[in-house]
Amino acid sequence: MRTIEEQGYHFEEWITPEQIAKDVKQVAEQISADYKDKEPLFVIVLNGAFVFAADLIRALKDVRCEVTFIRVSSYWGMSSTGQLEFIVPLQQVVDQRDVIIVEDIVDTGLTIHQLKAHLRGLGANSVSVATMLFKPTKLEYDDARPDYVGHQISEEFVIGCGLDFDGFVRNLDAIYKVKDQPAK
Ligand code: IMP
Repeated sequence: MRTIEEQGYHFEEWITPEQIAKDVKQVAEQISADYKDKEPLFVIVLNGAFVFAADLIRALKDVRCEVTFIRVSSYWGMSSTGQLEFIVPLQQVVDQRDVIIVEDIVDTGLTIHQLKAHLRGLGANSVSVATMLFKPTKLEYDDARPDYVGHQISEEFVIGCGLDFDGFVRNLDAIYKVKDQPAK
């Protein structure tokens, strides 16, 4: 089993490149069946989803689609409600479109919860969510439950395939999970 060290933390390989390829294929087949008569607009959530999204859209069969990008950051201000900050705002008109949000991982669901409300507010006809990874036991927003899931995982912190640790290790070809923490 492959392991890596990043900033004193040890990570071990958990989901192999072969398994991820299978997960992508299965999600692509589901989306291809559900959207074959539609012209969906994929909204890729930067930065982390770019790896999954690149594999996913190339695995679609007979789906005429468009692709655009958004970069958001969820932050908690002085009030108790989370706010979405648009670092790279949406460039595309979503009015009347069938939108598929593409995420790397759904954790608490806050990002998806806010993004769905935003896209509906802009007049999207429908909004669904495809994610590479989903941590169901951490979900806090029921409307953020993803429609298409590559792999359900437990609550461990994971990296690789687009997921970062302080901006690094997005290029790992497998999903790694944290093994132990640095000695104090
Ligand atoms: P949520 O809004 O709580 O669902 O969080 C979604 C975002 O948190 C993801 O797009 C990731 O950027 C980040 N995130 C959540 N869990 C992990 C993890 O295990 N590794 C790396 N990033 C994570």
